Amino acid sequence: MNDEIAKLKQLAAPLLAWYDENRRVLPWREEVSAYRTWVSEIMLQQTRVTAVLPYFARFMAAFPSVEALAAADTEQLMKLWEGLGYYSRARNLQKAAQIVTGQYGGQFPGTYEEIVALPGIGDYTAGAILSIAFGQRIPAVDGNVLRVAARITGSRLDVLDGKNKKLFRAWMAEAMPADRPGEYNQALMDLGAAVCLPHGEPLCDNCPARDFCAARQASWQGELPVRGKKKEKRVEYLTVFVLLREDEVALLQRPKTGLLALLWEYPHVPGTLDERAAAVQLADWGLTPHRWLKKLNARHEFTHIRWEMTGYVLEVQGEGPADWRWADREERQRLAVPSAFGRFTEEIHTTGKERE
Ligand code: ADE
Ligand code: SF4
Repeated sequence: MNDEIAKLKQLAAPLLAWYDENRRVLPWREEVSAYRTWVSEIMLQQTRVTAVLPYFARFMAAFPSVEALAAADTEQLMKLWEGLGYYSRARNLQKAAQIVTGQYGGQFPGTYEEIVALPGIGDYTAGAILSIAFGQRIPAVDGNVLRVAARITGSRLDVLDGKNKKLFRAWMAEAMPADRPGEYNQALMDLGAAVCLPHGEPLCDNCPARDFCAARQASWQGELPVRGKKKEKRVEYLTVFVLLREDEVALLQRPKTGLLALLWEYPHVPGTLDERAAAVQLADWGLTPHRWLKKLNARHEFTHIRWEMTGYVLEVQGEGPADWRWADREERQRLAVPSAFGRFTEEIHTTGKERE
């Protein structure tokens, strides 16, 4: 057995004891089912626990079963996801729910091969579902667990490299206990969230691994985990128009495929337009500016792209292109506008109040 696995094996008993004292009380832990574990794990990818809590509650109220999710109205599903970001997660949830309903009679499958074959479920999520909901001894290794594992073992392998992730996963698979695998995996998540914090600020004195952690012994907490260079994001500049007409706002639906598919957005054009160019664009759309209210900038980071946005908020007269929807307040409650445009959505609320 190599040193890394030996280190990690020491973790199980003190970690589970620590978890019994310090576990976070979370709705998907208090009432466990494969469906609830799956939905929570998908929401928790890319999103913090505190942000997920209200979404999870609303989601379970709207779609209490895999059948309800399979049959859901997509517009309602997107609205419930609004603000969580990474909307393909929601679309994949529904596709997978339809497969579980159609091919598995509504019973979530219980083998790794069947689960990873479902849309939107990768190695981490499959491990989480199998360990938490089915009690199987399978690791669930995400970025937090990689950080903990790299520190405990003192490994300088680049955790962003796919080959190394596989290796860490193999070590965790060897080191995890047969007893309470779901709690062990969730204990690691809690340890990463509450004690073995990123950015070199872990609270080692409170850690169940404090007596054998290699990073602590060598004072390497600030250097581990090693994360190699990520690819630079592509930057896209755009000019966004928040066009107001009485209590209506111009929205249009994004195409069926690609980034933010089928969500609703404010009219925008590529590039950064100054006021004059913006006025020309409005004229092209057949709109007459009535009152310019505000110019503002916003930025949004996607996985591989960054949007640098310039926005104009103004009152206009005219109809604009035929595919636009002038949505009043009530209709806007139903249409999902992605959080990439959140800064502009906020602006509608504030200017709306000022104008009243
Ligand atoms: N992050 C990802 N999965 C989690 C879980 N089951 N509990 C707490 N945090 C998590
Ligand atoms: Fe992380 Fe410190 Fe615990 Fe090591 S002792 S696992 S560095 S919190």
